Amino acid sequence: MCGIIGYIGKRPVLPILIEGLERLEYRGYDSAGIALMNAKREINVLKVKGKIKDLKVKVENDGYWWSNNHNFHIGLGHTRWATHGRPCEKNAHPHLDCKGKIALVHNGIIENYKKLKEFLISKGHRFNSDTDTEVLAHLIEEFMDGSLEDAVKNALKKVKGSYAIGVISIDDPNKIVAARNESPLIIGIGNNEYFLASDVPAILNYTRGVIYIEDGELVVLDKKGFKICPLRRKREVKKDIVKISWDVASIEKNGYDHFMLKEIYEQPKAIRDTIKAKVCNGKILLDEINLSPKELRKIKKVFIVACGTSYHAALIGKYMLEKLCLVPVEVDIASEFRYRSPLLDKNSLVIAISQSGETADTLGAIAYAKNKESKIISICNVVGSSITRCSQGTIYTHAGPEIGVASTKAFTTQLAALYLFCLYLGSIKGLIDQKTCKRCLKALEKIPEDADTILKRASELDELANLFYKKSNFLYLGRGINYPIALEGALKLKEISYIHAEGYPAGEMKHGPIALIDSSLPVVILIPKNQLYEKIISNMEEVKSRGGIVIAIAIEGDKNIIEKADHVFYVPKVLNELTPILFTIPLQLLAYYIAVKRGCDVDKPRNLAKSVTVE
Ligand code: F6R
Repeated sequence: MCGIIGYIGKRPVLPILIEGLERLEYRGYDSAGIALMNAKREINVLKVKGKIKDLKVKVENDGYWWSNNHNFHIGLGHTRWATHGRPCEKNAHPHLDCKGKIALVHNGIIENYKKLKEFLISKGHRFNSDTDTEVLAHLIEEFMDGSLEDAVKNALKKVKGSYAIGVISIDDPNKIVAARNESPLIIGIGNNEYFLASDVPAILNYTRGVIYIEDGELVVLDKKGFKICPLRRKREVKKDIVKISWDVASIEKNGYDHFMLKEIYEQPKAIRDTIKAKVCNGKILLDEINLSPKELRKIKKVFIVACGTSYHAALIGKYMLEKLCLVPVEVDIASEFRYRSPLLDKNSLVIAISQSGETADTLGAIAYAKNKESKIISICNVVGSSITRCSQGTIYTHAGPEIGVASTKAFTTQLAALYLFCLYLGSIKGLIDQKTCKRCLKALEKIPEDADTILKRASELDELANLFYKKSNFLYLGRGINYPIALEGALKLKEISYIHAEGYPAGEMKHGPIALIDSSLPVVILIPKNQLYEKIISNMEEVKSRGGIVIAIAIEGDKNIIEKADHVFYVPKVLNELTPILFTIPLQLLAYYIAVKRGCDVDKPRNLAKSVTVE
């Protein structure tokens, strides 16, 4: 959802900005740009429509940039995911004021930009783009009277909306001013050098010391130090520097063709690390949720809110919690939650699930729940992210950075975290005895090994992809706890291969979607060995008798399936509650191989962004 980067220090800024933008490209990739300032107080701007590789080509082709590389030590960069104004060069950031003295990058949406634009036009400002962002540069110009931070502060008083901004000006040259409201922003602390970024991977090669900027804070970076103060007050605030433990290798492809494939293969480790962080000597330790057993016992209802793939994890959480913890659960797509007046109170527990911790819709749902005084915990992969800071406690997944836009390892670790939470809550409520808890934990601890077994047979899915990659429609069917996996399989396929795919509860098929089935339609059916087995076999027969092509994902040893399905992929036998984790992996691989064969940009699917920080 747009990535911003900034640097001030002794090093040449150009390579730092380009590398930072490459690492932030998952946030948006329809256009990009940089603004560099030299000692002569000149701002140079370069923009392109397209990806960072296109920006690099433009930099290479214009000899000026590299030949002057050593003259630039302050700069800003931006990679865009369009909201206002189509993706094109003039709408790319950085945006300038009328005289080209101020350059600004922005992630977010300025909601009152039309009004501000009319006001600025009446004052004689001329605009060059169709974006909401450009008004900020002009508004700051309007208030500029020597001090850039004062001008930014005054301008932001007039602004409604979300923003993380970085600003430089030739009239107050040796600094970067930044501010945040509802869009992520961090600063990186180096040795007499300072960074500004939307996310940690952008600067991980240079520093591990970061400070998370909060809503309503303004930052001033210069070569000697940094200052953070509330936008509405003068007093400086002191904040802790957080040490980031991710290593640089975790943000490289390490020989894989795509981040997505690497992240699929990282799942055994990611799941193992998530379990290890919460289980000690056979006991689940979840102090991180900051809710006492007494508070947990008082919970009357659980609401789980999330978006996209994380929403699918939420749906599975409902099955687990209702079955193991006997608590009623509602699941909401976060963007819908606060608009339907859900009946929350202080005995409700809201669980927000998010890989990035920055999804605006999920943050909005949390804000609604806070208002109702509900308890709020999150399941999140990014330490210190906005959602974790708005929650009372967080169950962290330990997936490491997820760079591929399509979520893979974050999802399976969310499922592991949800299962651990269910065992924990069920034990506290006296519904799960020690012996059962131990048996379930043992089954969970074997999942990484089972995931490895599946990954070793990835070539079978590559072969299946060969047969089906030219299809234009797919249907995914599942029942019970695996119905959300049918949704997830369909989402994975459509978002990276652009093939139309639908996920359905298998029993619902006869109420409409069965009309779609003909001899050209591949139907992926998830077949666990549980109490619904006979029913799902009947659903499979219904598909077969209408000529559909059945790809069954079944449990090892289920020989019965071989005669009935056209193709079978087996996963190891596990507890029913854990089948979603194992069924997901072949669906991720199938989508991946199909997308690659169709020549799609798997890590950066069209129109998407990794973290969606606007509503
Ligand atoms: C799909 C995908 C998205 C995200 C969704 C929520 O592969 O990645 O659907 O799951 O945008 O993002 P988070 O989990 O960061 O809140």
